[in-house]
Amino acid sequence: MDFKKIVQERRSIKYFDANHKMTKDEINELFKMTVLSPTAFNIQHWRFDVIENKELREQIKKISFNQSQVTDASLLVVISGDLDAWKKNPRKYWKNADENVQKMMESMITNFYINKKEMQRDEVMRSCSMAAMTMMLCAKNMGYDSCPMDGFDFPELSKLLNFPKNQIPVMFVAIGKKLQDAWPRGGQLHLNQVVNFRE
Ligand SMILES: Cc1cc2nc3c(=O)[nH]c(=O)nc-3n(C[C@H](O)[C@H](O)[C@H](O)COP(=O)(O)O)c2cc1C
Repeated sequence: MDFKKIVQERRSIKYFDANHKMTKDEINELFKMTVLSPTAFNIQHWRFDVIENKELREQIKKISFNQSQVTDASLLVVISGDLDAWKKNPRKYWKNADENVQKMMESMITNFYINKKEMQRDEVMRSCSMAAMTMMLCAKNMGYDSCPMDGFDFPELSKLLNFPKNQIPVMFVAIGKKLQDAWPRGGQLHLNQVVNFRE
């Protein structure tokens, strides 16, 4: 599919065909592409929970304003991030590099994040958002539609999925075959309102 078309035609879909199943190969392909998204220092804060269990989907739906995407999407991915990823043996994020590069990256990463709680959290949000967008565009390219979602009870979700304290939910990405088109676009702000050329 032409890339411009993928961007233009990706929309947030509310109703999916609950009977459609994605193949393991398709799901694998989607994740292989997703993890190529950029992250600061290549820290890859993202964690992906693929919710296959029907009962669990029903439970999640209850804490997600009963949004039907939760149960009807072929794939429901809960994207969360590890707040402590920066300090968990950061050399592993540069495993293909030389030893001296690994050492340098470790020191840069540590100095960048140490004692900066807000930055540690912001970075999780940035990394996971990058992944979500890649996932949605790749899904579109594979003939699927998607919906990014944060309409859920964050603390309740963490409880339901037994997330440790340092793992925070960021959003869901629901993927599947659409049953209904999205509403017409709400309307983009004019470029003049959002793009500022500083000459
Ligand atoms: C972080 C985020 C959270 C969102 N949460 C929901 C949600 O819980 N349910 C939903 O139906 N749409 C949700 N949306 C979709 C937005 O409503 C949608 O992206 C926006 O209206 C623009 O429409 P479009 O994505 O079709 O271009 C979310 C989008 C983002 C980026």
